[in-house]
This record gives sequence, structure tokens and C-alpha cells, in this order.
Amino acid sequence: MTTRPRIALIGCGRIGQVHARNLASLRELCDFAIAADFFLEAAEKTASAYGVPRAMSDGEAAIADPEIDAVIIASSTETHAPYIELASHYGKSIFTEKPIALDLDATDRALTAADSAGVRLQVGFQRRFDPGYVAAKNAILNGELGAVEMIHDVMRDPQPPPAAYIAQSGGLYRDMAIHNFDSVRWLMGEDPIEIFVMAGALFSDDIRAANDVDTSVVTLRFPSGAIATIENSRRSGFGYDVRTEIFGSGGGLMVGESRDLPIRRYTSAGVIEDHQYFFLERFRDAYRQEMISFLTAIGEDAAVSVTGEDGRTALRLAMAAEESLRQGRPVSLLPTEVLHAQS
Ligand SMILES: NC(=O)c1ccc[n+]([C@@H]2O[C@H](COP(=O)([O-])OP(=O)(O)OC[C@H]3O[C@@H](n4cnc5c(N)ncnc54)[C@H](O)[C@@H]3O)[C@@H](O)[C@H]2O)c1
Repeated sequence: MTTRPRIALIGCGRIGQVHARNLASLRELCDFAIAADFFLEAAEKTASAYGVPRAMSDGEAAIADPEIDAVIIASSTETHAPYIELASHYGKSIFTEKPIALDLDATDRALTAADSAGVRLQVGFQRRFDPGYVAAKNAILNGELGAVEMIHDVMRDPQPPPAAYIAQSGGLYRDMAIHNFDSVRWLMGEDPIEIFVMAGALFSDDIRAANDVDTSVVTLRFPSGAIATIENSRRSGFGYDVRTEIFGSGGGLMVGESRDLPIRRYTSAGVIEDHQYFFLERFRDAYRQEMISFLTAIGEDAAVSVTGEDGRTALRLAMAAEESLRQGRPVSLLPTEVLHAQS
């Protein structure tokens, strides 16, 4: 038997609007009951735009509300872990935006709370639901590409975020590359054993002042011998640039056509096609599919497909990237006992 969970959305900002639109259009799978935001006006606007019966400013009250079965946490990063703990306490199913937290202690407290309460916890790594990445994963699984030997994963944002955002973002690896860490380990089907980073602040004074980097290349080695590179930039003159090349013994593929309209115009000024400017457009389908997956898991009393442990592993890789950058050399990701056994 399937059930239609009653949902509270916490955080009605940029990504909250995406989830609100999807929740409102998935009425067969859920009942979108509360829109909450620290700024009541944002909650009220969202409620009125999507026909949500209740708006409130208190996220904790929304989570505790007995009418609510599941929460979508789309508020600022530092609120995720405490809200996960609270929602676990009240036995609610939880979808949280990435990252779970900016440090492992808070992440572990949140995961332990969810685990002990036996509640579902899905993390917002939407690439795993993007039609392009899903097709790539299927091509790997069905052997079309042979043994995967290399992945080159690129993500460049149109422009750096405001200085205030950078200051509390956790830095390029925990805030941005965390998506790449998750998708590369998911595509490879294994966890890396070594990481090496070269990076710098090439163009943003704000990012340099925050002791962060705006340009980065990460190299990862996997137990099978496969190698991956992750390239990030906080600025791309032509807009969002998300491309992933997968190369295997039997063939390769590229995920990365980012057009709204499947048209290429051949003109005297050149060959022109449109380009999706940022993540909201590029991953529109993926955000919808991840929400369908979460709601279906609740409705069918099944496990979620992107777990808290996935969120933790991606954070661990982000922290290891920072360590490699600090040390200026490759860093092993093997547990120390394995290293000792090998020496
Ligand atoms: N998966 C993705 O692709 C993706 C994309 C963008 C953002 N995010 C993540 O989503 C989160 C939100 O990002 P955003 O860009 O939407 O930010 P935003 O600033 O646009 O929105 C955050 C909203 O949360 C509200 N808020 C802050 N504290 C709150 C609290 N204690 N209770 C209730 N509401 C509160 C704010 O008022 C604001 O409206 C971040 O953690 C970010 O990392 C994920």
C-alpha cells in the first residue's frame, strides 16, 4: 500500500523554490502542507504561489508539527544538521540539501540521530537523477564502456557568489566540488584511495581574502587503478559549464549537452545554439526526479537511493582535498591500518 506523505518545506530561498515547484506539481505523491522560512514573507509568498495551506517562520515548529510526515530541508547550510537531528527525534522522513554539515562532527551527530530513530535520510545530490548522468551510469553498468579507466568531471559556475556567501560556504570543496566528489564515486562504483589537488585564487579578490580557491584540479586514484580528474572554476564567461567524460576499455561517452531547445542554427555569424545559464535550468529534471524518488521511497516504505553516508563520504573527500592543497602533495585515503599492512 502506498501513502501520500504530508510535507513541510524548510527554507524558501533559491533551491527552496525549486523544491516548492516540484512538490506542488507532485500532488499524486505528496501533500505539500507547510512552507517555512526564517523570513515569514518568503514562506508566505511560497505558500501563496503554490497553494500551500500554511506558512510559518519557525522551522522547528514546522518539523515538530504532528500533521507532518516528512521534511525537505532547503535552508542555509548551518541549519541542516540541527534540523536533521530534530526531525529524527520526531520520526520524520528527511530530505536535506547538501552538504549535511561543514564538519564531520556535526555530520556524524545528524547521521547517528537519523540512524537511531530509523528514519529515512536522503541527501540532495541531484546529478544522480539527471537523465544524462543516469544514462552514463547505465552504460557503465551494462558494460557498454568496458572497464572504466578515466573520468574527467568539469563544473564551472557563471560567476563567483557574493563575498558574504563565500565567507560561510565552507570553501570550494565542501560547497561546490562536493557534487563532483559524489558523482565521480557513484559513476566509478568505488571509493578513491588517493587524492591530489592543485588550485589557486586566480581571479576573485573576495575568494583570495577568504583564503579559499576559485580554480582547482583534483586527481583521484581508485582501487581498480582507474583515475579521475575534477576541474572546478567559480567563473565561466559563457555560463554554467557541466561536462563529464567517461573513458573505458570499450568506448567513451560525454555527458554535457546543456541546451534548452534542441536546435543548432548555422548562420553567417557562426554556428549558434542556446546554453543553459546555471544549475536551476541545467538540473531542472534532476531536481524533480530526486523529489519523485524521495516521495516514492516514503510511499512504498522503501530505502532512499542517496544516503546520509553518501553525504558524509563526499564531505570526507572535500576535506582530504583541502589537506592535499595544504600539504602540496598527494594524500592517501586508505585507512591507516591498510597503509601499515602494505608498508
Ligand atoms: N543541490 C543543489 O544543486 C543546490 C543548489 C543550491 C543550493 N543548495 C544548498 O541549499 C541550501 C540553500 O541554498 P540557497 O541557494 O537556496 O540559499 P538561499 O539563501 O537562497 O535560501 C536559504 C533560505 O533559508 C532561509 N533560512 C535560513 N535560516 C533558516 C532557518 N533557521 N529556518 C528556516 N529557514 C531559514 C533563508 O531565509 C533563505 O530564504 C544550501 O545549503 C546550499 O548548499 C543546493
